[in-house]
Amino acid sequence: MKFFIDTANLDQIREAQDLGVLDGVTTNPSLMAKEGITGKDNIFKHYRKICDIVDGDVSAEVISTDYEGIIREGEELAELHEQIIVKVPMIKDGIKAIKYFSDKGIKTNCTLVFSAGQALLAAKAGATYVSPFIGRLDDISTDGLNLISEIRLIYDNYEFETQILAASVRHTMHVIDCAKLGADVMTGPLSSIEGLLKHPLTDIGLAKFLEDYNKGN
Ligand code: G3P
Repeated sequence: MKFFIDTANLDQIREAQDLGVLDGVTTNPSLMAKEGITGKDNIFKHYRKICDIVDGDVSAEVISTDYEGIIREGEELAELHEQIIVKVPMIKDGIKAIKYFSDKGIKTNCTLVFSAGQALLAAKAGATYVSPFIGRLDDISTDGLNLISEIRLIYDNYEFETQILAASVRHTMHVIDCAKLGADVMTGPLSSIEGLLKHPLTDIGLAKFLEDYNKGN
């Protein structure tokens, strides 16, 4: 299972990278705005900085919603760095653009996916990754994890190569449940990764080991 961090915050990306378990980064326009990164030039510079920190895939989202605009923007983003994955919204022109990018060998992440049918279309178009937003489904009393199971079943039935990137992950249990269900990737905040470290019995056990060691010294 790959671990991506879902942020545009460089300190948090560095911290996750230093832990040694980070496989990539996902961003979106809201995450960029949260870091105060605005305007095309600054946003592009920021993507390059992220690529310099991590070794893996970095999803960069297009703003256009029409086919020509998505193609133009996606090609510019893909030119920025070899690690860039063009993130395209799940809309009609987005699916057409994903097919175009796929034919040209440009990797894509189909975002804002909330149903199995949308995920099936993304795979048919040749998306590299599909991003079901599990937290946002949970927010409206719909089982986000069930969507992961449905997509896993469909992709396995037909051996689609599109990777399931569980997005909108909010906490450690989302990570563990996605791992059980066979999501290929999860993307979440730093807390969802570092939270996996924690167990009170580990802390109590370590304190006891150190205490006993110190008795003999
Ligand atoms: O990057 C897309 C997705 O992970 C957003 O998450 O927490 O805003 O629903 P969230």
